[in-house]
Amino acid sequence: MRGVFISLEGGEGAGKSTLLAGLRDHLVGQGIDLVQTREPGGTPLGEALRAILLDPTMRGMSAESELLMMFASRAQLVRECIAPALAAGRWVLCDRFADASYAYQGGGRGQPMERIAALEAWACAGIAPDLTLLLDLPVADGRARAAGRGAADRIEGEADAFFERVRKAYRARAMAEPVRFRVLDASGTPEQVLAEAIAAVTPLLERDR
Ligand code: TMP
Repeated sequence: MRGVFISLEGGEGAGKSTLLAGLRDHLVGQGIDLVQTREPGGTPLGEALRAILLDPTMRGMSAESELLMMFASRAQLVRECIAPALAAGRWVLCDRFADASYAYQGGGRGQPMERIAALEAWACAGIAPDLTLLLDLPVADGRARAAGRGAADRIEGEADAFFERVRKAYRARAMAEPVRFRVLDASGTPEQVLAEAIAAVTPLLERDR
């Protein structure tokens, strides 16, 4: 039986890392054979692309180059990691997936959504998450939480207006696909957010048994 693919999305300071760790522990505790990975990255090629994509000195990067590198990383991750894991019946927990390109490159950078959809169809080869957890938080709250984490990377250095467009695009995607998405109120405590995430994955655990 094909495994289950879960992606986790959200803006800066929304508590994605904390939730990932809690959710991973929960799933492993339930006896799930879990592969955890991330985007951009997750493969040797993807991690090399991630270093370029987030390097603050790469200021001249065009929106088109950025979009193509995000999908180059994704095409590799799908083929090298996600598709084989799902085919083997394993679960995949991915820190961001294609929705991030619609939000950041589409919403944030203004790249046409149809172009992103065409790239997705080609690069992802029919692989899409069964469940996407979106950690939603007002931009100012996320930025306040993330302040003091050290130097901002190339994308974190963008202005608030960019992150407002990212949030709007994420929320629009969640509205358009209410079955796949679960929007989590990231202003809650880490325990509350984890409890909501566990409630969202429980039907998938039952389906898997
Ligand atoms: P992270 O900080 O959650 O690890 O994500 C890395 C950054 O890359 C984050 O600012 C979001 C951005 N990103 C995109 O712009 N497009 C994408 O497709 C992905 C996966 C991430």
